[in-house]
Amino acid sequence: MEFRAPGVQRRVGGGRVRARSAHAVGLRYGGEGDAGVSALPYPEPALTDGRIGIRRWSEGDVDCVREASSDPRIVDGTTVPTAFTHDDGLAFIRRQWSRAESGTGVAQAIVDATTDVAVGLVAVTLRPQPGVAGLGYWVVPSARGRGAAAAAVRLVTPWALNSLGLQRLEAWVVPQNIASQRVLRGAGYLEEGRLRSFLTSGGKVSDALVFSVISSREAQ
Ligand SMILES: CC(C)(COP(=O)(O)OP(=O)(O)OC[C@H]1O[C@@H](n2cnc3c(N)ncnc32)[C@H](O)[C@@H]1OP(=O)(O)O)[C@@H](O)C(=O)NCCC(=O)NCCS
Repeated sequence: MEFRAPGVQRRVGGGRVRARSAHAVGLRYGGEGDAGVSALPYPEPALTDGRIGIRRWSEGDVDCVREASSDPRIVDGTTVPTAFTHDDGLAFIRRQWSRAESGTGVAQAIVDATTDVAVGLVAVTLRPQPGVAGLGYWVVPSARGRGAAAAAVRLVTPWALNSLGLQRLEAWVVPQNIASQRVLRGAGYLEEGRLRSFLTSGGKVSDALVFSVISSREAQ
Protein backbone atom coordinates (compact mmCIF):
# COMPACT_ATOMS: atom_id res chain seq x y z
CA MET A 1 0.00 0.00 0.00
CA GLU A 2 1.20 3.51 -0.71
CA PHE A 3 1.11 6.47 1.63
CA ARG A 4 -1.46 8.97 0.36
CA ALA A 5 -1.74 12.31 2.12
CA PRO A 6 -5.30 13.38 2.85
CA GLY A 7 -6.95 15.15 -0.07
CA VAL A 8 -4.25 14.45 -2.64
CA GLN A 9 -5.41 13.68 -6.13
CA ARG A 10 -3.51 11.14 -8.15
CA ARG A 11 -1.19 12.98 -10.44
CA VAL A 12 -2.13 13.38 -14.06
CA GLY A 13 -1.12 10.27 -15.90
CA GLY A 14 -1.22 8.18 -12.70
CA GLY A 15 1.30 5.63 -11.55
CA ARG A 16 4.70 5.93 -10.01
CA VAL A 17 7.54 7.75 -11.64
CA ARG A 18 9.74 4.79 -10.90
CA ALA A 19 9.34 2.11 -8.30
CA ARG A 20 12.97 2.06 -7.23
CA SER A 21 14.24 1.38 -3.77
CA ALA A 22 15.82 4.10 -1.68
CA HIS A 23 19.20 2.57 -2.34
CA ALA A 24 18.62 2.41 -6.08
CA VAL A 25 17.94 6.15 -6.42
CA GLY A 26 21.31 7.26 -5.20
CA LEU A 27 21.38 7.11 -1.43
CA ARG A 28 25.13 7.18 -1.41
CA TYR A 29 26.73 10.28 -0.16
CA GLY A 30 29.34 12.49 -1.61
CA GLY A 31 29.81 15.77 -3.36
CA GLU A 32 28.80 16.66 -6.87
CA GLY A 33 30.82 14.63 -9.30
CA ASP A 34 31.15 11.67 -6.95
CA ALA A 35 30.99 8.71 -9.29
CA GLY A 36 28.90 6.78 -6.74
CA VAL A 37 26.05 9.32 -6.66
CA SER A 38 23.24 9.14 -9.18
CA ALA A 39 20.77 11.85 -10.06
CA LEU A 40 17.33 11.90 -8.47
CA PRO A 41 14.18 12.22 -10.59
CA TYR A 42 11.57 14.96 -10.60
CA PRO A 43 7.90 13.98 -10.71
CA GLU A 44 6.96 13.32 -14.30
CA PRO A 45 4.52 14.77 -15.20
CA ALA A 46 4.72 17.62 -12.67
CA LEU A 47 2.32 17.30 -9.74
CA THR A 48 -0.70 19.53 -9.27
CA ASP A 49 -3.99 19.54 -7.39
CA GLY A 50 -5.44 21.89 -10.01
CA ARG A 51 -4.82 25.03 -7.94
CA ILE A 52 -1.21 24.64 -6.77
CA GLY A 53 1.55 22.80 -8.57
CA ILE A 54 5.13 21.81 -7.87
CA ARG A 55 7.71 21.65 -10.63
CA ARG A 56 11.43 22.04 -11.42
CA TRP A 57 12.72 25.58 -10.89
CA SER A 58 13.20 27.69 -14.00
CA GLU A 59 15.25 30.85 -14.54
CA GLY A 60 11.96 32.72 -15.06
CA ASP A 61 11.23 32.20 -11.33
CA VAL A 62 13.83 34.73 -10.26
CA ASP A 63 11.20 37.23 -9.01
CA CYS A 64 10.07 34.64 -6.49
CA VAL A 65 13.64 34.43 -5.17
CA ARG A 66 13.74 38.25 -5.10
CA GLU A 67 10.68 38.41 -2.85
CA ALA A 68 11.92 35.53 -0.70
CA SER A 69 15.18 37.38 -0.09
CA SER A 70 13.22 40.22 1.53
CA ASP A 71 11.85 37.94 4.27
CA PRO A 72 14.22 37.22 7.16
CA ARG A 73 12.11 34.17 8.08
CA ILE A 74 13.00 32.60 4.72
CA VAL A 75 16.57 33.81 4.43
CA ASP A 76 17.40 32.51 7.89
CA GLY A 77 18.30 28.87 7.49
CA THR A 78 18.17 28.73 3.67
CA THR A 79 20.56 29.71 0.88
CA VAL A 80 18.18 32.40 -0.40
CA PRO A 81 20.42 35.45 -0.90
CA THR A 82 20.12 38.15 1.75
CA ALA A 83 21.06 41.08 -0.48
CA PHE A 84 19.35 40.14 -3.75
CA THR A 85 20.92 40.64 -7.15
CA HIS A 86 19.67 39.09 -10.38
CA ASP A 87 22.81 36.97 -10.60
CA ASP A 88 22.40 35.76 -7.01
CA GLY A 89 18.80 34.83 -7.82
CA LEU A 90 19.90 32.78 -10.82
CA ALA A 91 22.64 31.15 -8.76
CA PHE A 92 20.02 30.14 -6.18
CA ILE A 93 17.92 28.52 -8.91
CA ARG A 94 20.94 26.65 -10.28
CA ARG A 95 21.68 25.38 -6.77
CA GLN A 96 18.18 23.90 -6.69
CA TRP A 97 18.86 22.07 -9.96
CA SER A 98 22.18 20.79 -8.61
CA ARG A 99 20.47 18.99 -5.72
CA ALA A 100 18.73 16.49 -7.98
CA GLU A 101 21.70 16.31 -10.34
CA SER A 102 24.05 15.43 -7.48
CA GLY A 103 21.58 13.03 -5.86
CA THR A 104 21.33 14.94 -2.58
CA GLY A 105 17.64 15.86 -2.82
CA VAL A 106 14.87 17.25 -4.98
CA ALA A 107 13.97 20.94 -4.67
CA GLN A 108 10.93 22.19 -6.56
CA ALA A 109 9.15 25.49 -7.04
CA ILE A 110 5.64 25.80 -5.64
CA VAL A 111 3.55 27.46 -8.35
CA ASP A 112 0.10 28.86 -8.91
CA ALA A 113 -1.27 26.16 -11.21
CA THR A 114 -3.25 28.68 -13.26
CA THR A 115 -0.46 31.16 -13.97
CA ASP A 116 2.61 28.96 -13.40
CA VAL A 117 4.06 31.80 -11.29
CA ALA A 118 6.43 30.52 -8.59
CA VAL A 119 5.40 31.39 -5.02
CA GLY A 120 7.66 29.17 -2.95
CA LEU A 121 9.91 26.17 -2.59
CA VAL A 122 9.46 22.63 -1.35
CA ALA A 123 12.54 20.46 -0.95
CA VAL A 124 13.22 16.87 -0.02
CA THR A 125 16.79 16.45 1.21
CA LEU A 126 18.32 13.06 1.86
CA ARG A 127 19.57 12.50 5.39
CA PRO A 128 22.64 10.36 6.12
CA GLN A 129 20.39 7.50 7.25
CA PRO A 130 19.43 5.30 4.26
CA GLY A 131 15.82 5.81 3.16
CA VAL A 132 15.32 8.93 5.30
CA ALA A 133 14.84 12.47 4.03
CA GLY A 134 14.03 15.87 5.48
CA LEU A 135 11.33 18.19 4.18
CA GLY A 136 11.70 21.96 3.88
CA TYR A 137 9.44 24.61 2.39
CA TRP A 138 8.68 28.30 2.24
CA VAL A 139 6.12 30.55 0.58
CA VAL A 140 6.72 34.22 -0.27
CA PRO A 141 4.82 36.66 1.96
CA SER A 142 2.47 37.86 -0.81
CA ALA A 143 1.18 34.32 -1.43
CA ARG A 144 0.74 33.18 2.18
CA GLY A 145 -2.45 32.12 3.89
CA ARG A 146 -3.99 30.66 0.75
CA GLY A 147 -3.06 27.03 1.19
CA ALA A 148 0.03 26.97 -1.05
CA ALA A 149 2.34 25.30 1.48
CA ALA A 150 -0.33 22.86 2.58
CA ALA A 151 -1.00 21.82 -1.03
CA ALA A 152 2.69 21.52 -1.90
CA VAL A 153 3.44 19.30 1.11
CA ARG A 154 0.42 17.13 0.32
CA LEU A 155 1.64 16.74 -3.24
CA VAL A 156 5.30 16.08 -2.55
CA THR A 157 4.93 13.69 0.40
CA PRO A 158 3.40 10.62 -1.27
CA TRP A 159 5.56 11.19 -4.34
CA ALA A 160 8.76 11.25 -2.28
CA LEU A 161 7.83 8.18 -0.25
CA ASN A 162 6.76 6.15 -3.24
CA SER A 163 8.94 7.36 -6.08
CA LEU A 164 12.16 8.05 -4.18
CA GLY A 165 11.59 4.84 -2.24
CA LEU A 166 11.86 6.56 1.15
CA GLN A 167 10.83 4.85 4.35
CA ARG A 168 10.63 8.10 6.32
CA LEU A 169 10.16 11.79 5.59
CA GLU A 170 10.62 14.18 8.48
CA ALA A 171 10.49 17.88 9.25
CA TRP A 172 11.99 19.92 12.07
CA VAL A 173 9.94 22.93 13.14
CA VAL A 174 10.52 25.56 15.80
CA PRO A 175 7.70 25.41 18.38
CA GLN A 176 6.65 29.00 17.59
CA ASN A 177 5.99 28.21 13.91
CA ILE A 178 2.32 27.32 14.21
CA ALA A 179 1.58 27.72 10.49
CA SER A 180 4.26 25.20 9.58
CA GLN A 181 2.97 22.71 12.15
CA ARG A 182 -0.52 23.05 10.69
CA VAL A 183 0.87 22.44 7.21
CA LEU A 184 2.44 19.19 8.39
CA ARG A 185 -0.51 17.95 10.41
CA GLY A 186 -2.83 18.68 7.49
CA ALA A 187 -0.65 16.53 5.24
CA GLY A 188 -0.75 13.56 7.60
CA TYR A 189 2.52 14.06 9.52
CA LEU A 190 2.63 13.01 13.16
CA GLU A 191 4.43 14.97 15.84
CA GLU A 192 6.96 12.61 17.42
CA GLY A 193 8.73 14.68 19.99
CA ARG A 194 10.99 17.57 20.78
CA LEU A 195 14.70 17.90 20.19
CA ARG A 196 16.01 20.34 22.78
CA SER A 197 18.40 23.09 21.68
CA PHE A 198 18.57 21.58 18.22
CA LEU A 199 18.17 24.45 15.73
CA THR A 200 20.23 27.61 15.53
CA SER A 201 18.94 30.51 13.52
CA GLY A 202 19.91 34.15 13.61
CA GLY A 203 22.35 33.26 16.38
CA LYS A 204 19.50 31.94 18.53
CA VAL A 205 19.28 28.34 19.67
CA SER A 206 15.82 26.79 19.65
CA ASP A 207 14.14 23.48 20.31
CA ALA A 208 12.74 21.61 17.29
CA LEU A 209 9.51 19.67 17.08
CA VAL A 210 9.94 16.56 14.95
CA PHE A 211 7.17 15.57 12.55
CA SER A 212 7.26 12.56 10.26
CA VAL A 213 5.41 10.31 7.92
CA ILE A 214 6.60 6.81 7.24
CA SER A 215 5.95 4.61 4.26
CA SER A 216 3.25 2.05 4.80
CA ARG A 217 5.77 -0.45 3.38
CA GLU A 218 7.81 0.04 6.54
CA ALA A 219 4.97 0.46 9.05
CA GLN A 220 5.14 -2.12 11.84
C1 LIG B 1 5.04 28.36 7.15
C2 LIG B 1 4.65 28.77 5.72
C3 LIG B 1 5.40 27.86 4.73
C4 LIG B 1 3.13 28.59 5.55
O1 LIG B 1 2.82 28.84 4.18
P1 LIG B 1 1.30 29.23 3.72
O2 LIG B 1 1.21 28.96 2.26
O3 LIG B 1 0.98 30.58 4.18
O4 LIG B 1 0.46 28.15 4.55
P2 LIG B 1 -1.02 27.69 4.20
O5 LIG B 1 -1.78 28.83 3.64
O6 LIG B 1 -0.92 26.44 3.41
O7 LIG B 1 -1.60 27.39 5.65
C5 LIG B 1 -1.32 26.19 6.30
C6 LIG B 1 -1.98 26.18 7.65
O8 LIG B 1 -1.36 27.16 8.50
C7 LIG B 1 -2.34 28.06 9.00
N1 LIG B 1 -1.69 29.36 9.05
C8 LIG B 1 -1.27 30.10 8.01
N2 LIG B 1 -0.67 31.22 8.47
C9 LIG B 1 -0.74 31.15 9.82
C10 LIG B 1 -0.29 32.00 10.87
N3 LIG B 1 0.36 33.13 10.61
N4 LIG B 1 -0.53 31.61 12.14
C11 LIG B 1 -1.15 30.45 12.42
N5 LIG B 1 -1.60 29.59 11.47
C12 LIG B 1 -1.39 29.97 10.20
C13 LIG B 1 -3.47 28.01 8.00
O9 LIG B 1 -4.69 28.38 8.59
C14 LIG B 1 -3.45 26.54 7.64
O10 LIG B 1 -4.00 25.78 8.68
P3 LIG B 1 -5.26 24.81 8.47
O11 LIG B 1 -4.95 24.03 7.21
O12 LIG B 1 -5.26 23.95 9.68
O13 LIG B 1 -6.39 25.73 8.31
C15 LIG B 1 4.99 30.28 5.45
O14 LIG B 1 4.44 31.06 6.47
C16 LIG B 1 6.49 30.55 5.37
O15 LIG B 1 7.08 30.43 4.30
N6 LIG B 1 7.12 30.90 6.51
C17 LIG B 1 8.55 31.21 6.54
C18 LIG B 1 9.40 29.99 6.28
C19 LIG B 1 9.00 28.81 7.15
O16 LIG B 1 8.62 28.96 8.29
N7 LIG B 1 9.10 27.59 6.56
C20 LIG B 1 8.80 26.36 7.27
C21 LIG B 1 9.99 25.95 8.09
S1 LIG B 1 9.65 24.46 9.03
